[in-house]
Amino acid sequence: MDSVLVTGGAGYIGSHACKALRRAGYLPVAFDDLSGGHAGAVQWGPLVRASLLDGDAVSAAIAEHAPVAVMHFAGVIAVGESMHDPGRHYVRNVAASAILLRAMQQAGVDAMVFSSSAAVYGEAVTETILESARLAPLSPYARSKVMVERMLEDFSVAHGMRAVSLRYFNAAGADADGDTGEGHEPETHLVPLAIRAALGRAPALAVFGDDYGTPDGTCLRDYIHVTDLAEAHVRALERLRVGALPPCLNLGAGRGASVREVIATVGLICGREVPFTVAPRRPGDAPRLVADISLARDTLGWTPRHSSLDEIVRTARAWEEKAG
Ligand code: UFG
Repeated sequence: MDSVLVTGGAGYIGSHACKALRRAGYLPVAFDDLSGGHAGAVQWGPLVRASLLDGDAVSAAIAEHAPVAVMHFAGVIAVGESMHDPGRHYVRNVAASAILLRAMQQAGVDAMVFSSSAAVYGEAVTETILESARLAPLSPYARSKVMVERMLEDFSVAHGMRAVSLRYFNAAGADADGDTGEGHEPETHLVPLAIRAALGRAPALAVFGDDYGTPDGTCLRDYIHVTDLAEAHVRALERLRVGALPPCLNLGAGRGASVREVIATVGLICGREVPFTVAPRRPGDAPRLVADISLARDTLGWTPRHSSLDEIVRTARAWEEKAG
């Protein structure tokens, strides 16, 4: 079985990708320091518990498992935190990626699928966002993603590294079999917080602003089911192994949903209204971020199949109840 090194394989999106890889016939080797991930989420291959900042550990894992490619999910994700602790984001996202890429290059591993983010675009100036849109990252977190995208281009020119940066919009939902799901600490994302509020496990949801220039005044986001994301990663890996891909691809569902729409769906699916209050806008939130996903559809032969708000909320609710 060909192995794939999955950094952040004990995390939310990484663990779903490990399951998808195993299903596609690969052995996913999770490389994770468990600073954000959970050992219990590693179920489809071995766990190497180490930090990407430890270059010797990275090289040893590559030598031991001889991966055909790397999926690179590990990193820190809290946009707000990056504003007051940028150093953490530059070390854990940028420096760690440089160490990983060097170790790959030295060992002759030449394919990487990288977790980038819609945050690289900053504020959208069009209804839907194309990969060719101007990059205007608003936070150190978003700039760290742009820096790694650039690094991949440099490794591609200098060393023939084949890489693709997948720019996720809003990942949500959980594995349909209940094997893995979202478990951030602390949780800041809308879908799990709204579900917890409806189930009475968290205080009333604070809606960050209802005076945006959007149809109902709340922010529009493009929610994509994590299982659809995982499948896109496997397809990207398979395409990279036989040729090149565009350097960056958007991954979303290609439609916007407002905070109020998410709240209404959670209310229906939980059978209880979500208690909420309207709070001030959250600094750094763009009014609208919706993907144009035609490039991913065309180049990966992929389409989101599980990303209705209903399915996202149903699977996320089941996971919340299980994780308790
Ligand atoms: N929101 C609330 N109340 C909350 C939490 C969120 O109203 O308690 C709103 C936000 O203002 C936003 C929407 O719900 O309008 C979604 O917020 P999330 O925090 O769930 O997600 P973000 O869109 O802020 O962030 C996501 C990823 C980031 C990534 C970003 C790129 O989590 O890692 O998309 O756009 F950088």
